[in-house]
Amino acid sequence: MGAVAGHLYERLAEEFAGAIERGALRPGERLPSVRALSSKRGVSPATVVQAYAALEHRGLIEPRARSGYYVRRRLQVSIAVPEVRETARKPRRVSVASAIHDLFDAIADPSVVPIGAACVSPELLPIERLNRLLSAVSRELGSLGGTYGAAEGWLPLRRQLARRGVEAGIALSANDVVVTNGALQALELALRAVTRPGDIVAVESPTYFGILQLVENLGLRAVTIPCHGESGLDLAALAAALERHPLRACVAVPSFNNPSGACLPEEGRIALLQLLSRYDVPLIEDDLYGDLHHRGPRPRPVKAFDSHGRVLYCTSISKTLAPGYRIGWIAGGRYHDRIVQLKRGADMHTAIPLQAALSEFLAGGGYERHLRVLRARLATQVERLRTAVALRFPAGTRVSNPSGGFVLWVELPEHVDSLELQRAALANRISVAPGVLFGAGDEFRHYVRLSAGHPWSERTERAVATLADLVRVPTALAV
Ligand SMILES: Cc1ncc(COP(=O)(O)O)c(C=O)c1O
Repeated sequence: MGAVAGHLYERLAEEFAGAIERGALRPGERLPSVRALSSKRGVSPATVVQAYAALEHRGLIEPRARSGYYVRRRLQVSIAVPEVRETARKPRRVSVASAIHDLFDAIADPSVVPIGAACVSPELLPIERLNRLLSAVSRELGSLGGTYGAAEGWLPLRRQLARRGVEAGIALSANDVVVTNGALQALELALRAVTRPGDIVAVESPTYFGILQLVENLGLRAVTIPCHGESGLDLAALAAALERHPLRACVAVPSFNNPSGACLPEEGRIALLQLLSRYDVPLIEDDLYGDLHHRGPRPRPVKAFDSHGRVLYCTSISKTLAPGYRIGWIAGGRYHDRIVQLKRGADMHTAIPLQAALSEFLAGGGYERHLRVLRARLATQVERLRTAVALRFPAGTRVSNPSGGFVLWVELPEHVDSLELQRAALANRISVAPGVLFGAGDEFRHYVRLSAGHPWSERTERAVATLADLVRVPTALAV
């Protein structure tokens, strides 16, 4: 296990922080008096006073006049959200390939606590029902898979996907949709449809590392636009970049950005589209997390406001249903025909039996009910993880407060190198996603992304405590 905090008062503070996190000490409950605790534990009153001061500093407990210390009632408000980082304005070639390897290696290992990869636990997904439908369609549709199909995808599935788009607010028909191998292929086809090698595109900072990898693999250059934790893409910075560079596309995850969790408000979505229209630049919109809002209505995609076919809308079922099925889709607007051509050239089409099974699943109903349950579970898990980080991690830590999705973006004290943290955490059988993966340069070296996709357990709780110890004691990172 990880290193333990040094001073006696720190250990005492940790012990009480753990008790608060587990709910053994509940909000509003009184802590033992200084005198009582000092005699019970055989430590000096000064040590107890110091421990309580540390807990108060972390926002966990509060003093009340002449009556002692109490657990604060609203723990979750006691930690700040990460700051926006100014990122370089110059277009850059980016390289993140090697750092991603370790993250994916850990997914397949059940002995590793899975708070690294942005995956929803299979036990929260109706995967068995989907698998049963796969065998049923394979039996019933005889020669299904015996010939090539349309590059656009299986028509009944495209109808279902278009219907989901319509429910999200986008005016679509089956003819506007191309089925892809996951959102990643949708993004790749979108980028290839609107750029050539050497072109410059705007990407958010921080952003999903798959987008950075695509930029790298396609020989593009990226201008990074700061993405505010709460309000999303910085439109003034984007306007400046449009003025300065011949941008060929803007790639954004407006709803619950991975990793920051940011959600661009509706007026920002309209302004974004107006801004890009002025420069005739297409928007590649990644809406992978749009269905996973924790409260309120689903955010309407930017594509819902697009009357000129300027938005290439990309999404998939990977975060809500079945990442292993590798099914996503793209509504490419005015670039639709080019995307069909690129899809055919890339891999002919997505596997038909899988498309047919998904089509049956969506047609059979129950998906919305599943999403409602999933959203509630994820909202609870995110809050649980967030509270644990707030309680355990050292002063100077900041945590995002997303209103959707299931990842947390954690800014650690500046001395922490997240690649070292990833290595030390793996040595403790814990996977985390180091911040460097999510930036085109080194700007997020002391950040880490944690995933709340799995149900909370004692194992997760212990893992968070170990990570906190590793972060607190810099030498513990040198494994
Ligand atoms: C923002 C974002 N886009 C795309 C992807 C890739 O999705 P898929 O697995 O459907 O290819 C991910 C996966 O984590 C993601 O977070």
